[in-house]
Amino acid sequence: MPDRLDIVFAPISAPLEPAVAVLCGEEIALGGLAKKLNAAGGGAILHAAEVAGFKGKARTAIELLGQAKLAPRLIVVGTGRAAELTEADWINLGGYAFGQLSARKTETASLVAEVQDGNQRPAGQIAADMAFGALLRSYNFRKYVTRKAENEEGAPPPDGIQKLLVHTAEPDAARIRFERHQAVAAGVFLARDLVNEPANVLGPVEFAERLRDLTSAGVEVEVLEEDALKALKMGALLGVAQGSVRPPRVVVMQWNGAKSKRARPLAFIGKGVCFDTGGISIKPAQGMEDMKGDMAGAACVAGLLLALASRKAAVNAVGLVGLVENMPSATAQRPGDIVTSMSGQTVEVLNTDAEGRLVLADVMWYAQERFKPRLMIDLATLTGAIMVALGKEYAGLFSNDDKLAADLVAAGQATGERVWRLPLDRAYDKLIDSKNADMKNIGGRHAGAITAAQFLGRFVKGTTWAHIDVAGVAMDSNKTEISRSWASGWGVRLLDHFVAAQHEKSER
Ligand code: BES
Ligand code: MN
Ligand code: ZN
Repeated sequence: MPDRLDIVFAPISAPLEPAVAVLCGEEIALGGLAKKLNAAGGGAILHAAEVAGFKGKARTAIELLGQAKLAPRLIVVGTGRAAELTEADWINLGGYAFGQLSARKTETASLVAEVQDGNQRPAGQIAADMAFGALLRSYNFRKYVTRKAENEEGAPPPDGIQKLLVHTAEPDAARIRFERHQAVAAGVFLARDLVNEPANVLGPVEFAERLRDLTSAGVEVEVLEEDALKALKMGALLGVAQGSVRPPRVVVMQWNGAKSKRARPLAFIGKGVCFDTGGISIKPAQGMEDMKGDMAGAACVAGLLLALASRKAAVNAVGLVGLVENMPSATAQRPGDIVTSMSGQTVEVLNTDAEGRLVLADVMWYAQERFKPRLMIDLATLTGAIMVALGKEYAGLFSNDDKLAADLVAAGQATGERVWRLPLDRAYDKLIDSKNADMKNIGGRHAGAITAAQFLGRFVKGTTWAHIDVAGVAMDSNKTEISRSWASGWGVRLLDHFVAAQHEKSER
């Protein structure tokens, strides 16, 4: 586990670290800040701002070295129009401020989470939300880097800032709110850790073993081994797994936090292809290393369950992940093979690289049979085609239910993990109908992300369902203010918010 940032809330009056970030809004801008810091070097701030053309706009900052009496190193961070910022904005701003601080050589730093502008959200909220952003940004995955920069003369400490003091007028309120953020961050970090891990270390067996650790957070974890999957007749999933010497696993994670432990759960299903070579329909070498992240859907589901359990969410939720490795070998399935899924429907496997839908088909069926969930959401790095359609900004959303789709779109807006809905329609069925079996696993050149979703829809039996194609957003995605990691941990915050906003109060 990489070192985690230590965040401490302190009163505004508490002693400051030598490196300090303060905020400056656009509205009353520098005048207010300079006046407040007058004794501490307000004039120097005004002068520096003028030289740099700094106006307090979002994502801008100036640095004063040895000028302000407040701190030898003072960074003034612009907030934009502070009175208009949403929770997501404050989180992003915390990430930005932390980025500014950690670009400097320092192991500890102070962030003064205070703005002069009126009409504010409570100070404790602002401090907690900024701290959340800083925490998310602080994540790194360097467990395999043994070459440490600290041996070099004057090099920055290898893990950057170790401790961040967040100064606020309401440290107690901030601490309470931040506890919940920490629970969600734990889930995001678990998802990132799992996705960043190379496939030689993390195969299906090892992935399942790691998920057993969720037990300590209060999640009930059950691992189904190969014999159990055979007994359940998961022929589609097993067909994918058969090319690898590493056996498959299905892991069932349950968090029962609702008042009624017997209330039907929400079900979250994740594609967990620990490595996707494509199988016999092998992928080109270029970029294949990214396919260690083809289990990002499963990682997100695990992270979500950890987040829900850690913050004791008042909901019953179950997470199921299908863990396999897609390899070409003498035992691998061939193009043209016909497999029988747990549902009884048969699939002609025309391309062994369209494996995710085969894994999901069986896990989704099992989830519905066993749990009769009130709704089901699957996450999968399912298609390259979703990136052709949406790039790396939005995940693809498909749903058989307008309310569920709208709730997920709203959660996406609130968290910044945005989803864009694409159609499901019987009209696409002809693209995946097969002469030799009930369906084929590819649909041809057009509408690749849609035909994949349409395929999954054939394994939904009357359940309210959404499918989220995360191939573009889960990894190698845009670096944001709150994620510098190859693995973004995308979806944990989205679904945590969705659960809290739509499914906790009603179940109390
Ligand atoms: N895991 C891939 C999709 C993917 C590609 C995820 C790139 C992330 C980055 C999936 O299993 C796959 O190979 N899909 C094929 C489907 C095709 C054979 C119908 C694809 O998208 O090319
Ligand atoms: Mn594939
Ligand atoms: Zn795949």
